[in-house]
Amino acid sequence: MLEQKLRDVVRDIPDFPAPGIVFKDITPILKDPLLCMAIVDEFVDRLEGIDIDVIAGVESRGFLFGLMLATRLGLPFVPIRKQGRLPYKTISESYKLEYGQATIEVHEDAVPMGAKVLIHDDLLATGGTVVASAKLMEKLGAVVVGFSFIINLDFLNGSGRLMRFSDNIISLVK
Ligand code: PRP
Ligand code: ADE
Repeated sequence: MLEQKLRDVVRDIPDFPAPGIVFKDITPILKDPLLCMAIVDEFVDRLEGIDIDVIAGVESRGFLFGLMLATRLGLPFVPIRKQGRLPYKTISESYKLEYGQATIEVHEDAVPMGAKVLIHDDLLATGGTVVASAKLMEKLGAVVVGFSFIINLDFLNGSGRLMRFSDNIISLVK
């Protein structure tokens, strides 16, 4: 079963990148192409019935499966990047992480007005990253129709912060 396989493969790294944080290392997943395909298949199944125009993925780990999923669904992919990386005109949002603070940006022409956007990231912790991403999408006039994650650290209650954008919150393992 996919959920159990993910529990077995994702590595816990204590005290990274700061004392007290147990870091979920997804790099072992990437060494297993069949597992990567199973993850994309599961997202496709779980997203059935949600009308999506664009998939936005958050740098950097959100790019890994975000682009795969968009390509598989035949949808455009939009990168949401850390500050200073995108070359064209951008809008930005700052937010707090489980282990720090960051600013993310998106190109101001990334999505058409009214586009239905799924926001994808590898992991949901406090929700700060995807809340900031959802705000960026709304600033561009897009509508957030859902969120997808491989891992949800549900004890941090990140999903509670996402409900005001959409209650389509998909995660493969908690
Ligand atoms: C991690 C992870 C999510 C975010 C989740 O990214 O990939 O984007 O933290 O935390 P939150 O729910 O508390 O916001 P990180 O900023 O470490 O960047 P990376 O993907 O480049 O490693
Ligand atoms: N992003 C925020 N918290 C994290 C954690 N515990 N492991 C991996 N990525 C994270």
